[in-house]
Amino acid sequence: MELNNFVYLSMIIVAVSASNNYCIIPEPILKVFTYNFTTLTNLKEPTRDINLSLNRGSIRLQLCRELKEKCNGKDGYSICLKKDKKEIGIGKFPAKVDMKDGRILFVFTGDNCKNDTNYTVKIIMKCDYEVQGDSKPQLIHETFECTLFLIWRTVAACGRRTTQNCTLTDKATGFHYDLSPLTKYAENYLIPLGNKTAPKIILNVCHSVIFEYDALCQMTDGACLQDPNKNRYKSLGDVRKPPYLDNNRNIKLEYEDGAVCKNNKNVINIKTTITFMCDFNAVNTNPEYISGSEECNYQLLWRTAAGCSIEYLKNRTASIPKQSTVKCATQNDEVNLGLIKSTSNYVIKTDKTMFYINVCRPLISNLHTNLKCMFDGSAACKVSLDTSVAENEISLGFPKESPIINDNRETVLRYTDGSNCPENIERLLSSNITFPCYDSDEDSPEFKRYEDCTYVFEWKTRLTCGAVIGNWIAPCIIKEQLLSHECDLTLLQKVFRIKSKQGKEYAISICNSNKELTSKSCNSAICDDNNNNYGSIANVIFDYGRDVIKIQYTNGGKCADESSYTSEVRFICTKSMGIGTPKLLWESECSAVFEWYTNVTCSCNRSTSGSSNSQGSNVAPIISSSSHAGTIAGIILTIVALISAFIYFRNPDKRACFKSCCNLFNSRRGSGRVQYCRVNTTEEARLLLDIDPTQCQTDSDDDLLNA
Ligand SMILES: *[C@@H]1O[C@H](CO)[C@@H](O)[C@H](O)[C@H]1NC(C)=O
Ligand SMILES: *[C@@H]1O[C@H](CO)[C@@H](O)[C@H](O)[C@H]1NC(C)=O
Ligand SMILES: *[C@@H]1O[C@H](CO)[C@@H](O)[C@H](O)[C@H]1NC(C)=O
Ligand SMILES: *[C@@H]1O[C@H](CO)[C@@H](O)[C@H](O)[C@H]1NC(C)=O
Ligand SMILES: *[C@@H]1O[C@H](CO)[C@@H](O)[C@H](O)[C@H]1NC(C)=O
Ligand SMILES: *[C@@H]1O[C@H](CO)[C@@H](O)[C@H](O)[C@H]1NC(C)=O
Repeated sequence: MELNNFVYLSMIIVAVSASNNYCIIPEPILKVFTYNFTTLTNLKEPTRDINLSLNRGSIRLQLCRELKEKCNGKDGYSICLKKDKKEIGIGKFPAKVDMKDGRILFVFTGDNCKNDTNYTVKIIMKCDYEVQGDSKPQLIHETFECTLFLIWRTVAACGRRTTQNCTLTDKATGFHYDLSPLTKYAENYLIPLGNKTAPKIILNVCHSVIFEYDALCQMTDGACLQDPNKNRYKSLGDVRKPPYLDNNRNIKLEYEDGAVCKNNKNVINIKTTITFMCDFNAVNTNPEYISGSEECNYQLLWRTAAGCSIEYLKNRTASIPKQSTVKCATQNDEVNLGLIKSTSNYVIKTDKTMFYINVCRPLISNLHTNLKCMFDGSAACKVSLDTSVAENEISLGFPKESPIINDNRETVLRYTDGSNCPENIERLLSSNITFPCYDSDEDSPEFKRYEDCTYVFEWKTRLTCGAVIGNWIAPCIIKEQLLSHECDLTLLQKVFRIKSKQGKEYAISICNSNKELTSKSCNSAICDDNNNNYGSIANVIFDYGRDVIKIQYTNGGKCADESSYTSEVRFICTKSMGIGTPKLLWESECSAVFEWYTNVTCSCNRSTSGSSNSQGSNVAPIISSSSHAGTIAGIILTIVALISAFIYFRNPDKRACFKSCCNLFNSRRGSGRVQYCRVNTTEEARLLLDIDPTQCQTDSDDDLLNA
């Protein structure tokens, strides 16, 4: 890498012209690879557009081409907003692409919004090696009437990478080590060499540094140095060698062959050495710079559980008590939270805090994220990443109660008897998790607030959307109005035969082909071998709380006692099942209930004519506007905070104030401070806004927030 001693960057702004190929972009800084965004389409259903649901309405989108379906009856759009049953073209094809300092921004302009302003959609493309295949952009905020900001995490926004096996066996002891839990796939470790204006080391572990905005290192660099004025980068070594053990049995990782060493005549190239120290309780820690910049050997020290041998970690975790778990469903199993399955803990990360959460049971101990509160059976845990805080880990409660449905019809799961409450020595911390009904697959909790010795979280899920009456649409589709879910059951149309212990044989043909295929005299989806008709469709019920779809059949042929045959088929989504076969759950003389584990009902969520009104259904509207108002208010506050940060950083004299400004938000917001302060460093904010003074002068496209 001697040639690349310094990479000098000027403001590179590439406005790719309006060609069909604006999605194929040669990377303009290193010039060694090309971005290809053409794969970012609806991979599951290539004939449809990508669909995003918003708080109010939805969006159809294509990044690199026109929409497959017209928008408001017209062609020529790439982004279409649907709100109150009306469609608006908010992004015309093609987009303009801005590449500046490694930030990739797609800008779409749409129809007139108001006065002289047209709709604008800005999509930031963010590298994430772990998002392969299907991906969708996410909303950053939708508070401005005419401008929408999205971020799209995808491997398509990544450059080439260099990786290295991160495991090691100590031949003397036979112990195994694995540093791979420290590898980052969407961001880098940043290690300042001094104060804010000092150079920063940008680092990754056994993987080259993620090439992105504000981290423009070479593709092979495991570490590089960012100059304070930000437009110079220097390689501190390549990812090439696996970790090794030194004489003191410490694990070390070396990145060699960095830029040419200028300070030390005995050394040709700069290198970096990271020493890992086993610390069982050190989770999500950062490496520290020790010394060596003058000698061209940058020495870093990292206290981390990943520096411990796997055998040692296993030993420690083996002592975790086995805790009993509570029943994870509300009364009468109305909402079964047990259906939120987890093989690891849910993690909520803010700037200085990590929350670990599990559902109705203790946190699962992962070999590399061992915390005291994973030993003691806590179901929620808060870890402060700020090492200056004395007690950096607190339990937010134990799973002692089943979830309840409170007077507001909210499903609440409560963990109690955690660590001491700082505001009231007589009380212990607890956490409340509420589960609002939401049509989303990305189920994970969000931290809302801290009050009354209680951490309040919100977890949007389909499980609390209740039981919704749906319709049967011939020939073989079921549909409901609340979440606009629609299932095509055509794959189940063959005749399934089931023998019962009582000797009856049932023929089931959901799409009602029994008439042709079995016997002319039974015209029903369910018949028995005596040609008894088990009814016609009476109800289709989407029971989200139990994750079951039921079809009930009544008014069949005459049975004993003047009654008629009835039956029911329950579909239970099971991804691993394939089509599956129906099983008899129980039968009586005049009725039968079948259970059908199948993957066909797992893909019921996208409906063609998406009316998301709740007309005709027996439940409240999905999205309670009040809870969203809170989110929006939060977002507005963060934007206000960002703009003030931006203004302050324009003026170097005021930069020092920034910390106290942040504190201002702290004291106002009380426990909510994490949310507001962290925004200054979130990826989104960093990408949206340069809050660096040197960059503020060149705000050519920083009209991003010109509200
Ligand atoms: C971009 O990706 C598409 C889909 O994988 C592929 O067909 C096309 O050849 C690629 N184009 C370039 C220039 O790499
Ligand atoms: C803005 O919207 C108007 C009306 O929809 C349209 O005629 C015009 O071309 C748009 N401007 C741009 C720059 O797309
Ligand atoms: C790393 O090397 C070890 C030992 O050679 C091997 O068992 C392991 O599968 C490798 N891991 C990866 C991710 O290649
Ligand atoms: C694991 O625990 C056993 C028993 O306490 C001890 O003998 C052994 O040395 C431990 N192994 C490691 C790797 O710490
Ligand atoms: C937490 O939940 C309990 C039980 O539903 C309720 O009494 C309490 O007010 C809730 N606390 C907060 C801060 O929401
Ligand atoms: C269901 O399973 C079948 C067979 O394993 C598979 O071909 C199909 O893609 C699956 N469908 C869904 C929606 O997962």
